[in-house]
Amino acid sequence: MRALSMDRAAVARVGAVASAASLCALVAGVLLAQYIFTLKRKTGRKTKIVEMMPEFQKSSVHIKNLTRVEEIICGLMKGGAAKLQIITDFDMTLSRFSYQGKRCPTCHNVIENCKLVTDDYRKKFLQLKEKYYPIEVDPVLTLDEKYPYMVEWYTKSHGLLIEQALPKTKIKEIVEESDLMLKEGYEDFFSKLQQHSVPLFIFSAGIGDILVEVIDQAGVYHPNIKVVSNFMDFDENGVLKGFKGELIHVFNKHDGALKNTEYFNQLKDNSNIILLGDSQGDLLMADGVANVEHILKIGYLNDRVDELLEKYMDSYDIVLVKEESLELANSILQKIL
Ligand SMILES: *[C@@H]1O[C@H](CO)[C@@H](O)[C@H](O)[C@H]1NC(C)=O
Ligand SMILES: [Mg+2]
Repeated sequence: MRALSMDRAAVARVGAVASAASLCALVAGVLLAQYIFTLKRKTGRKTKIVEMMPEFQKSSVHIKNLTRVEEIICGLMKGGAAKLQIITDFDMTLSRFSYQGKRCPTCHNVIENCKLVTDDYRKKFLQLKEKYYPIEVDPVLTLDEKYPYMVEWYTKSHGLLIEQALPKTKIKEIVEESDLMLKEGYEDFFSKLQQHSVPLFIFSAGIGDILVEVIDQAGVYHPNIKVVSNFMDFDENGVLKGFKGELIHVFNKHDGALKNTEYFNQLKDNSNIILLGDSQGDLLMADGVANVEHILKIGYLNDRVDELLEKYMDSYDIVLVKEESLELANSILQKIL
């Protein structure tokens, strides 16, 4: 009511103050824009998102082409949650490589280390690892050259495991007693993806039953997760008798990816991908994706760093050396979601 009785002069005064204020804001805005423009000209480049992110400033982060990473992250940010999907490896990617200076187990090691298997099994399992692991991480051999050895390794070690007649009911206990640990920041990683219904595809050459149990015991086995891995097959008495489907090993993720076209077809609108891996073979995990707009490949380099860093930097957009946390991925998710 009071405003209605205001005289014309008062109204004019209010108007003048308001326009002065907006003029001020306008001038400030122009000055700021000019300042940024000059700054850009001086530094000769655009202000980068990743340069503002402390997670990128750590010495473990290695990037070959920062411009490219910047462009991809911009693309991911534009697409938001609706276009995003995550494709990740499990062992040594979502799980830790080491903790307090001690190596952490893979899914296969969880069984090797458990008290239900015989010493003879453990000895033979170790002999296989001593023969084949150096081939897996050999910096000279090509993937094609390594491939048959990996099949041999997995077939022999799964054969040994079947002889142990492991009961299905013991999986929970075996995992509870193991030293397998998810990387630091896993709670944020899993819960943020779940909150925004971002599909999370876990593609593992490990043992599906073990990794699902690990994630479940960590309380983060949410419905947005799909696991493709080597799942155990049990007989009518619940005793291990083999593995379901075709073997997935570290270097046949290309074929495995193509077998999951049905999953990826359902996600054809999710054309922005963050891929996480720790092996060169993990780079093939997105080969089944129907439609790729932007893909950011983040690689954990855990072992033989000096020999492999260059190769990893050539193939992964971001390489994380001896990094035991998911904070960089989380910081990117923070920007996108
Ligand atoms: C880095 O990436 C950008 C954008 O993708 C590209 O234009 C440029 O050629 C790349 N630089 C090198 C040295 O590869
Ligand atoms: Mg791995």
